[in-house]
Amino acid sequence: MELLASGAGILAHDDLAGRTLPARPWNSNPVQPPDPAAMRERYGRSSLVEADVPADPLELFAAWFVDVVGAGVAEPNAMVLATVSPQGRPEARTVLLKGYGGDGLRFFTHTSSAKGVALAARPVAALVFPWHPIERQVRVTGEVVALSVAEVAEYFATRPRESQLGAWASPQSEVVASREDLDRLLAAAQERFPEGVEVPVPPSWGGYRVVPDTWEFWAGRPGRMHDRLRYRRTASSEPWHLERLAP
Ligand SMILES: Cc1cc2nc3c(=O)[nH]c(=O)nc-3n(C[C@H](O)[C@H](O)[C@H](O)COP(=O)(O)O)c2cc1C
Repeated sequence: MELLASGAGILAHDDLAGRTLPARPWNSNPVQPPDPAAMRERYGRSSLVEADVPADPLELFAAWFVDVVGAGVAEPNAMVLATVSPQGRPEARTVLLKGYGGDGLRFFTHTSSAKGVALAARPVAALVFPWHPIERQVRVTGEVVALSVAEVAEYFATRPRESQLGAWASPQSEVVASREDLDRLLAAAQERFPEGVEVPVPPSWGGYRVVPDTWEFWAGRPGRMHDRLRYRRTASSEPWHLERLAP
């Protein structure tokens, strides 16, 4: 396995700091939008060979996580979480990975949100880490298990106070009438938990872990002949089965 030695040439988050987006209304944009069909990258920053990868995909994920953080990629722990709604429709959104280990990949959210409702009905998910600047992608599928009250409380206590209050204020995924209504909900939460008062975990907030049954590691290669290695197993007592997928 080739690891990236440094993040040279990769645009770091800080490079964008201080640059603001234009505040023009959407309908007065005079700029011709770029043509996405003309956008092309030539990949080849790393490769993936069966002989070089560990038997346990978690070790490869950990090594790649070191690489992506080292390369200065913005929000390296952001992952797309796909779930299936109770009506059987796919839904995807970004969440932040907040921990990982042999028992799965952890994230936190509102349990009453659309994703919480989906996971209650169908506790399965897919994850995608889209690490474009280092031309790598990691995909995971698996069953989803709710974290214990103690695990949730432990993590919630580490959040900044304003995020704790935001969790109380936001009826995540519900329709709200206006920004003002949202601000009023935050003010009510601030009043309920004044400075100096510890903010408890909201009743409809929690965490989950995705227990992988497949992991796919993708490394961009020239000519679209990318490397794709998939690990899969049907039970956690089984060894992982490694296979190469066509790009
Ligand atoms: C970079 C990024 C990180 C995010 N992290 C989280 C997160 O950790 N937890 C969360 O509930 N929402 C997070 N969100 C917001 C979600 O994408 C989504 O808007 C929200 O959870 C509601 O999704 P739902 O209505 O499908 O349940 C994040 C969004 C972005 C862009």
